[in-house]
Amino acid sequence: MDSFEFNKIAAAILIALLTIKGAELISDHLVQPKMLKENVYKIEGVSTTAATGEAAAEKKGPVPIEPLLASANVQKGADVFKKCTSCHTIDAGGPNRVGPNLHNIVGAQKAHHPGYSYSQAMTSKGGTWSYDDLNIYLYSPRDFVPGTKMSFAGVKNDQERADLIAYLRQQTDNPPPIPDVKAAPDASQTPLSTAPEQSPAKK
Ligand code: HEC
Repeated sequence: MDSFEFNKIAAAILIALLTIKGAELISDHLVQPKMLKENVYKIEGVSTTAATGEAAAEKKGPVPIEPLLASANVQKGADVFKKCTSCHTIDAGGPNRVGPNLHNIVGAQKAHHPGYSYSQAMTSKGGTWSYDDLNIYLYSPRDFVPGTKMSFAGVKNDQERADLIAYLRQQTDNPPPIPDVKAAPDASQTPLSTAPEQSPAKK
């Protein structure tokens, strides 16, 4: 067999291999497994909180943040805060940007910064930035304060939001204490180290 013949055979093998690989790539694109948003089989008693748990599952709102705060990671929260830095500073005495400086925000009055011009919606909201309110606001700003001029979709991941709030807390000089998780009997059953959303209640 001369070398020309050999080249032809080698080329044929190569083309065959490329075709197989190519077909694989294409079929991977054609068939994409879709993950279900919810379990098909609803297991009774899996919801940790009977009433609110079900409501949350239907509405897909934020989970209670206090149990997550206990194990939140401030360092990771600082990373999550990078989503905010285009509009907010957080160092003491930092300037207002598109949004107000957020130093000492935990426990502060809503619309806390005297030097910032808030929306009507935010000034008339009232109350303080409790952990709860921050949780709901940061999950979906426009649902909690309709008409807010903070155009930010929200942090949907519960652990990320907990880490973020832990970071806001660290950047607050005299933060209010984190509400005692043991006060909420349902929450105390949830292992803190794992995401409670996924872990079924121990029965
Ligand atoms: C696109 C710009 C933008 C981004 C991104 C943004 N914010 Fe805001 N934020 C604003 C504006 C504007 C306001 C003032 C809202 C108003 O007056 O309605 C605000 C207000 C707030 C308030 C209320 C402050 C007060 O004094 O009452 C908090 C808390 C807050 N933002 C936290 C965050 C956090 C945490 C993030 C990141 C996860 C974030 N924001 C991302 C623009 C932004």
